[in-house]
Amino acid sequence: MVPPKHFTVEYTINPWMGGVVDQAKAQTQWDALKVAIEKQGVKVLTLDQAPGLPDMVFVCNSGLVLGNNVYLSKFRHAERSGEQEHYLKWFKANGYTVHGEDYAEYFEGGGDAVFSDYKTLWAGYGARSSKSVYSLVQSLGDYETVICDLVNPKFYHLDTCFTPVGATSALWYPGAFSAATQAEIRRRLPDAIEVSDAEATAFVCNAITIRNAVISPIGVSATTKDALKKLGYETVEVDMSEFMKSGGACQCLVLKL
Ligand code: ARG
Repeated sequence: MVPPKHFTVEYTINPWMGGVVDQAKAQTQWDALKVAIEKQGVKVLTLDQAPGLPDMVFVCNSGLVLGNNVYLSKFRHAERSGEQEHYLKWFKANGYTVHGEDYAEYFEGGGDAVFSDYKTLWAGYGARSSKSVYSLVQSLGDYETVICDLVNPKFYHLDTCFTPVGATSALWYPGAFSAATQAEIRRRLPDAIEVSDAEATAFVCNAITIRNAVISPIGVSATTKDALKKLGYETVEVDMSEFMKSGGACQCLVLKL
């Protein structure tokens, strides 16, 4: 995670961006998210935010990690491209084998690509990552890639509308996907939970599952909590209001190693 030392909203590269960030509040919310993660017994490493790169807090966009390998991101927008060198340095210093360093195609890391189990990669493309990058990303290892068509500009990254919950379920918003991708999600994840328009707008799908906890922004409906409970998951809600002014929340603020 990257502490929000220089987090602001200074430009607009997704439809959610706008408003003035309360920096003290952002820090408090970020701390609460870190504590919620640590409560699950997970160790959190941090990387300092570089000045002039306000979106660097959204470290999940730095790359996609599988074991000791990482496929480094290449940002679609110039506003974020300066983040790459900091991530590259960190990955190298921490012993990762870096793929994609020659930046062949746009790729926004964990924002668009997520493993449900380590046999299946859910691979979004549309507003940010290129569809064609996923044949290169496949160099990370032996798994199946499920290409997901993102067709709704509001849901510009896969993690704004889909998050795996275990190997058979997910929280997801059908309105973000093509009909073909919707059918594929339903076929492969029989226990997937569809969220409402209101929940999708509250960024409820921008959640992370750690062990038996789903850590999500505030706004999860009683119906969704109940459905998660039936699958054995408790819901932990964290206020992410300041980060949502930039179009990000729980999942965006964390890179899973
Ligand atoms: N303002 C950032 C951007 O538009 C937000 C990134 C959120 N990250 C994510 N994984 N969805 O790039």
